Amino acid sequence: MQSKQIVSVTVALFVVTVLSMAVGLLVSIEPSMAQTQDTQDQQFAVRGADTCLVCHNNPTVTSVLTTKHGNSSIPGSPFATHDCESCHGASPNHVSALQSPTVVFGAGGGLFASSSVEAQNQACLSCHQTEDRVLWAASVHESADLACVSCHTIHPGPNATGSLLPDIDTCMSCHLEKRSQLNRRSHHPLKEGLMTCADCHNPHGSNAESLLAKSTVNETCTTCHTEKRGPFLWEHQPVSEDCTTCHNPHGTTQASMLSVRPPFLCQGCHSEAYHPSTVYSGDDIPVVGAAQQLLGSACTNCHTEVHGSNHPSGSRLTR
Ligand code: HEC
Ligand code: HEC
Ligand code: HEC
Ligand code: HEC
Ligand code: HEC
Ligand code: HEC
Ligand code: HEC
Ligand code: HEC
Ligand code: HEC
Ligand code: HEC
Repeated sequence: MQSKQIVSVTVALFVVTVLSMAVGLLVSIEPSMAQTQDTQDQQFAVRGADTCLVCHNNPTVTSVLTTKHGNSSIPGSPFATHDCESCHGASPNHVSALQSPTVVFGAGGGLFASSSVEAQNQACLSCHQTEDRVLWAASVHESADLACVSCHTIHPGPNATGSLLPDIDTCMSCHLEKRSQLNRRSHHPLKEGLMTCADCHNPHGSNAESLLAKSTVNETCTTCHTEKRGPFLWEHQPVSEDCTTCHNPHGTTQASMLSVRPPFLCQGCHSEAYHPSTVYSGDDIPVVGAAQQLLGSACTNCHTEVHGSNHPSGSRLTR
């Protein structure tokens, strides 16, 4: 009986000792961990980029100096603040003991595992969560787990122009079908270098569908095609509603980027009754009785003001 009590007291003492040791450990670990983090945050290399370039002096890495990020005269630029570590984070343990740098960009494959996409993007957004990028969070591209560096190459290499703005090939490397559309007969002059995808889209996020640069399709189009904006005395309803009802802005095989050729385009909505539209029979022989308006002509030969008319008697969009 007594020996059992002694045993259980001993056990209890043992448990208490172990517990207090554990608690003691925790108590002693926690502040020291926080301390490491704090000091790591403050331990930017005193000699800045010079510290890093002792080992990283290769043309791809140093090409960052040819970009705006490497320009110390731009206020707030990385090289006006902590140089390399403005993006890669304070990394004293990398310098002294070759542990991983704090932020490793890209998809991985190097010696060190890459940081999470979120951590990578946060490094950029710490300076860039402004202007065009305020809608990045929850945008289609953010939700699809794209990183800023999926589109922007920050060490662009020795032969680059110094600009960090991606070209349309970057977009089309993922949006393959857009490449074939832009090669169609009728297209916006993107591959001619006069426009970019970003003239109509904000790749960083948008309140509109399809990442449009403006809040509606028509507002986007009429930033350039101002003469189509209206209001007109005589509106054509589908035009006021949505330009893409008739046009595909990425390119089509029909003239004027029309998705379908008139008269079929128009007859998708307008009854054949007024201008009977069975111009040809199946074997291309004119059908007797077809409205003369349709023979050899498209609707727009007469209805020239298909986008709307300001002429007092333009209600039929003919003038
Ligand atoms: C003592 C040499 C040395 C110094 C100093 C040094 N590094 Fe490194 N760093 C390396 C080595 C070795 C690697 C691994 C090989 C590689 O991936 O190029 C590396 C890799 C990296 C990577 C690549 C991670 C990846 O795989 O994409 C980054 C980023 C990096 N270092 C940033 C820095 C920064 C920023 C500094 C200055 C604060 C710095 N390094 C200082 C030796 C060094
Ligand atoms: C504006 C942010 C930024 C700055 C400043 C910056 N880097 Fe990077 N670094 C990146 C990104 C993003 C990548 C991923 C590859 C890319 O986009 O070029 C990268 C990749 C790297 C790599 C791995 C790829 C390679 O080519 O080996 C190294 C090493 C590196 N950086 C070192 C440095 C050093 C050293 C400096 C300072 C001289 C520096 N970085 C300045 C953002 C930055
Ligand atoms: C320390 C702040 C800082 C960080 C971090 C930073 N940038 Fe920048 N970035 C700038 C400044 C400042 C400019 C120049 C703005 C100007 O044109 O006046 C700039 C310019 C740019 C430009 C336009 C360059 C051009 O050629 O017109 C792009 C794109 C860009 N940054 C992307 C990034 C990405 C992606 C990251 C993350 C890998 C990043 N930045 C990290 C401060 C930063
Ligand atoms: C899907 C591709 C894509 C992604 C992802 C992307 N960008 Fe961009 N970014 C672009 C394009 C395209 C432009 C050029 C816009 C233009 O010409 O108006 C640009 C321009 C910029 C500029 C320069 C703006 C100016 O007015 O000069 C900065 C800064 C920038 N991006 C930062 C970022 C940051 C930070 C991220 C991540 C949160 C990011 N980008 C993600 C495609 C992208
Ligand atoms: C790394 C791959 C990648 C790159 C590069 C890329 N995108 Fe995307 N994009 C996606 C994914 C993934 C989605 C979402 C799924 C989808 O709709 O295809 C998407 C969606 C979109 C959408 C449709 C949004 C919607 O609401 O349906 C537009 C518009 C778009 N991207 C434009 C661009 C433009 C412009 C660029 C170049 C500045 C670009 N993308 C570069 C992968 C990419
Ligand atoms: C002249 C304006 C304009 C240009 C330039 C443009 N787009 Fe679009 N894009 C639109 C409009 C408007 C929509 C939405 C209506 C629709 O679905 O056709 C759209 C929709 C999209 C969509 C989502 C729906 C779909 O069709 O797949 C993607 C992805 C896209 N664009 C990618 C691109 C890429 C990549 C580029 C550059 C190569 C580009 N766009 C250039 C106007 C444009
Ligand atoms: C950034 C300016 C810009 C925006 C935005 C824009 N366009 Fe254009 N558009 C052009 C240019 C430039 C041309 C070529 C003019 C030329 O070749 O003479 C053009 C030509 C056209 C053409 C005639 C093509 C032909 O083969 O004759 C149509 C149709 C058109 N755009 C429709 C649209 C639609 C629809 C939108 C909105 C989704 C739109 N555009 C947005 C600049 C723009
Ligand atoms: C009901 C169909 C329809 C709608 C909707 C429509 N268009 Fe058109 N668009 C046409 C037709 C048809 C042509 C060819 C006219 C011709 O052959 O004379 C054309 C031609 C064009 C052209 C090139 C010739 C010119 O008139 O400059 C531009 C640019 C254009 N449209 C822009 C737009 C814009 C911007 C919108 C939206 C505000 C729009 N279109 C909406 C049917 C439409
Ligand atoms: C997406 C459907 C749609 C398409 C495609 C379309 N229209 Fe229309 N159109 C309408 C609507 C809706 C009205 C307004 C009808 C009304 O007010 O009774 C209209 C009105 C008209 C009017 C004035 C008719 C009237 O009663 O005053 C003419 C003319 C016309 N369209 C010609 C055309 C031509 C030519 C085309 C082809 C280039 C075309 N439409 C393509 C929907 C369309
Ligand atoms: C030879 C010239 C000509 C051609 C080609 C033509 N139209 Fe017309 N259309 C007219 C004239 C003129 C009027 C007005 C007649 C009137 O007010 O009595 C008209 C009236 C209309 C109206 C208004 C009908 C209404 O109820 O008031 C519509 C819709 C229309 N056309 C659509 C079309 C379509 C669709 C095509 C092509 C399939 C077409 N037109 C081809 C000359 C033409």
